[in-house]
Amino acid sequence: MVNINKIRNHFPSLEIKNSRGEKIIYLDGPGGTQVPNSVINAISNYYKTSNSNTHGSFITSNRTDVIMDETRENLSIFLGAQNKNSISIGHNMTTLSFSLVRAFSKIFKKNDEIIVTQLDHEANRGPWMSLKNYGIKINEIKLLKSGKLDYKDFESKINDKTRLVALGMSSNALGTINEFKKIGNILKNHKSFFLLDAVHYAPHFLIDVKDINCDFLLCSSYKFYGPHLGFLYSKPGILDNLNTDRLIVQDQISPYRIETGTLNHAACAGASEAVKFIASFGKGKNLRTKLKNAYQNIRKHEHSLASMLYNEINGLNNFKTVGLNFDSKQRAPTISIVHKKKDPKYVCNKLSEFNICAWDGHFYAKKAIECMGLEKKGGVTRLGISIYNTKEEVKRTIRALSSI
Ligand SMILES: Cc1ncc(COP(=O)(O)O)c(C=O)c1O
Repeated sequence: MVNINKIRNHFPSLEIKNSRGEKIIYLDGPGGTQVPNSVINAISNYYKTSNSNTHGSFITSNRTDVIMDETRENLSIFLGAQNKNSISIGHNMTTLSFSLVRAFSKIFKKNDEIIVTQLDHEANRGPWMSLKNYGIKINEIKLLKSGKLDYKDFESKINDKTRLVALGMSSNALGTINEFKKIGNILKNHKSFFLLDAVHYAPHFLIDVKDINCDFLLCSSYKFYGPHLGFLYSKPGILDNLNTDRLIVQDQISPYRIETGTLNHAACAGASEAVKFIASFGKGKNLRTKLKNAYQNIRKHEHSLASMLYNEINGLNNFKTVGLNFDSKQRAPTISIVHKKKDPKYVCNKLSEFNICAWDGHFYAKKAIECMGLEKKGGVTRLGISIYNTKEEVKRTIRALSSI
């Protein structure tokens, strides 16, 4: 079990209070989590002890090389990847997607097809949908009103011409967990690339890229207690054959082949530390086994708070929840709600008066919010549970909501 007081001590930003002395409650984790001291220190220590570019002959450059190696190693263990050379670093998930799509545009042919979903964040739709400009047909898996994808629709759209299936592991708008293993199994008999967006899934659940058998996976460390940094997993052998945009002086092999310019080394030190931070909630003989155990503990804690919040909200007169309920296993601890009369912006402003941080709108999952018929109503108010949230915070949130 997680010791919530111990966890909270790691996060200095949990101490912020408003003018009434009320402590801040962060329910905005799906937009970016708070950062623990160990990660903050790793970033600032980088500048104090190791600040340099890579591959030089002097001490700080050597240290930077070690940090970059460790980062790739820890991120690869985080994803259950084959080795550290399958991890490429980028600015954020969106930028890495645009880099990949430029490479795909050079190998996909006119009349090839791709599949995206109506549930996904635009970062996992827009870049791939831009392939339309190359004569590629775009198929979209339908989102059902329940908040789940229509898997029959997927099966009717996959065919011999499909070259890419881009799927989110979990929705940042509705908290749905998609059936990525099922889709991965179907794709074993197809030549299509299988690409996953793990951004909303990674803070809450263990990822195992070998087990899922995906070709690419994109992630962002600011959603799992790290700094703003994106990274890409590519199955060994695939990136080496893609014609990426790169300088002739860049290392031409994976993972460097898709990286451009000087990377954010300090943020890499922080992302590496964020993996160790998550692992610190578990027991085991190595980093991977610790992560496995840690995610079981994180899930128990987050699921119990999220289902409590979900049930309490459904007991309120003015609010209703959107998306799957918490009996379902396909659920991340992210709850979207709508007020009977007030728009989501109004609700968030009111919550802010109680020093509660929550986002309103579509959170770039614009299509999903449109499909749920909520676009014109200002979207939803999103309440996300993270590792540092408490039962008392859920109770305070319910009291605040019941006054709106
Ligand atoms: C599910 C999901 N995918 C992708 C992104 C984009 O990530 P980034 O900000 O790293 O480009 C986000 C950001 O909110 C997200 O929630």
